[in-house]
Amino acid sequence: MISTQAPGAASARPTVADIPPSCVHEVFRAVTEYEATHGVPALGLHVGEPAFRPPAAVADAVLAAVRDGRTGYTTAEGLLELRSALVRKLTTRNGHDTDADLVFVTPGSTQGLLTLMHAVAAPDAEILLPSVHWPIHLQQSLLTGLRPVFYPLDDRLRPDVDALARIGGDRPRTLLVNSPNNPSGAVCDERHLLALLDLAHSRGWTVISDEAYEDFAFDEDHTSLACLERNVSPDERRVFSAFSFSKGYGMTGWRLGYVTAPNERHAAAVRTVQEASIMCPPEPVQLAGIAALGEPECLAANKAMVRHTRDTAVRPLLDTGLLTRLPAGGWYALLDCRATGLDADTFAARLLAEQGVALAAGPGFALRPLVDAAGQVRTVDDEPEARGLLRLAFCGETETVREGVRRIALFAATL
Ligand SMILES: Cc1ncc(COP(=O)(O)O)c(C=O)c1O
Repeated sequence: MISTQAPGAASARPTVADIPPSCVHEVFRAVTEYEATHGVPALGLHVGEPAFRPPAAVADAVLAAVRDGRTGYTTAEGLLELRSALVRKLTTRNGHDTDADLVFVTPGSTQGLLTLMHAVAAPDAEILLPSVHWPIHLQQSLLTGLRPVFYPLDDRLRPDVDALARIGGDRPRTLLVNSPNNPSGAVCDERHLLALLDLAHSRGWTVISDEAYEDFAFDEDHTSLACLERNVSPDERRVFSAFSFSKGYGMTGWRLGYVTAPNERHAAAVRTVQEASIMCPPEPVQLAGIAALGEPECLAANKAMVRHTRDTAVRPLLDTGLLTRLPAGGWYALLDCRATGLDADTFAARLLAEQGVALAAGPGFALRPLVDAAGQVRTVDDEPEARGLLRLAFCGETETVREGVRRIALFAATL
């Protein structure tokens, strides 16, 4: 019999059924149950669904594409016209030095991030994830056989560079940076990013920079990590980036994002994954993306709206003791309910039952799977310090967030 496996090779990927579900998806189920029982909608602050929608030109573009029969396969990388427009955006707004061969259109940046993890995965490779992270980053790491190692955060919930520098050994590693961050709202300034990049270069790590919330840095301009590599020779570059149309343009359900590779060698790996996993992004949605890039004015308006909600509707949480500082960016605030005597799961369940407000409980943002030598997930614990954390989304209607915060304060006052 012909063997298709190298002698002695062990699977480095866990059994998929052992990978923990995402807490963000679990809370959806709790809300559906609440609504079925009570017959009224819950006030949903658990999910990042924005109050705004894309400009009319975007819908017009998708309708025209369908009407005109622009509904076929495109290249796996996406339409050159869209990638060229993205290169202009990446160059002028993000300061990247890139070209269309290094840019890949993806069906949402979730798919883009999975593609990047597939592209960097290698036997025994590790991924360095923030100790509190978006649960999908963890699922994707495990799905692609990257062993998660969690790095501590500083007092403002940004990556702790000194602690990262103490990580020893010479396994192949990828550092995941997510600024502005989900779920913490932390933003890394240029100095912080430079320190991370210097460390990655000195240790030979690749970097994945998830910049889905680039349009929502409130207190200072967003810095895109890859722009700090523009003066490094392409062969030496190591930063992959992921961007999304979902957040800035309010295009969550359209499923459109894009990723960049640092050089041709890495782009070849990304292309292979795209070919094998998506064939191509949907053509009408790509044409809608070109229309969206032609309407950048909405980005500032959307950011102003979310910042206004943060500054007016979220601010009262500072007086409840549940929130110590307003998030510097993104769509989420991370509350800490430990002083109320309840853990986050109980707080979230009782808040939903008693006040009809849904939040996402924090333990699911800090899971700790134990992966054995054969790459299998043996147990999944959570980080004790995250047992009091709750994520609140403030990208919805300002008045909805205001009412939700009022009810959270009422509930907390009863404890
Ligand atoms: C940190 C982060 N990255 C990426 C995404 C993916 O967004 P999309 O797949 O809609 O582009 C999200 C969505 O919530 C996110 O929070």
